[in-house]
Amino acid sequence: NKKKTVLDIVKKYKDGIPISMVTAYDFTSSKMVDKAGMDMILVGDSLGMVINGESGTTSVTMEQMIYHCKSVMRGSKKSFVVGDMPFGSFETSTKDAVSNAIRLIKEGGVDAIKIEGGKKQFQNIKAICDTGILVVGHIGLTPQTSTSLGGFKLQGKTEQEALSLLEDAKCLQEAGCFAIVLEMVPHATALAITKSLSIPTIGIGAGNGTSGQVLVYHDLLGLYSDFVPKFCKQYATLSENIDQSLKNYKNEVESREFPSPIHSFSMKESELSPFLD
Ligand code: KIV
Ligand code: NA
Repeated sequence: NKKKTVLDIVKKYKDGIPISMVTAYDFTSSKMVDKAGMDMILVGDSLGMVINGESGTTSVTMEQMIYHCKSVMRGSKKSFVVGDMPFGSFETSTKDAVSNAIRLIKEGGVDAIKIEGGKKQFQNIKAICDTGILVVGHIGLTPQTSTSLGGFKLQGKTEQEALSLLEDAKCLQEAGCFAIVLEMVPHATALAITKSLSIPTIGIGAGNGTSGQVLVYHDLLGLYSDFVPKFCKQYATLSENIDQSLKNYKNEVESREFPSPIHSFSMKESELSPFLD
């Protein structure tokens, strides 16, 4: 029951045991994910949507990532924690990529970083890997550049697209990434890529042929009811419990049923008398 390292992740991969990963953005959720024994926690820039209510992830800043990484680190003891490089923090130069990756490690305190992009980001990603920082790649649907993909769409769905994705994956492996997230890719494409690599793939909407899975905390727990992505299984519908609990509280406040004596503090009436004069 020690803190997991990259060697534990690699061993699971070599042993053919799928790697489990889920996002967390704060202390309390991090503590729960860690307690469940998750292999990895992702402080995803999906926090732009899930926490900040934006329609995408492009607005997320380094300062926000560092703030959330710190909270997650305080809640996790054993899980291996990966922090996302936000849009704009690495594309401009290898110098920016390296210095922002160092900030996430140094100030955010995470164990590794994740970065979106394939062959076009090779130089930037290699430069980060060369510093000795552990890097997870991320290809397929890349939310930060989803506008150029025409939206949140399935990737690698023709032979040509699949071959291009495979090339991206090989590039990331060569750059020195220790794992690659494959997002919204058909099962067959994800399986083929997984088979041709010697590092683990972590899928989201990529079928069960990958070396591991990642889901967004709020999605898998059903913390909202308005939208559920096709690839997400809801292991609970907690938003229903929360809705009902909040209504019950409001009603009990209005009826004075809450707080009852057990939730109140009492004192002897004699101690009160001086104030009553
Ligand atoms: O930000 C995020 O949550 C992610 C996962 C969906 C892989 O990048
Ligand atoms: Na992300």
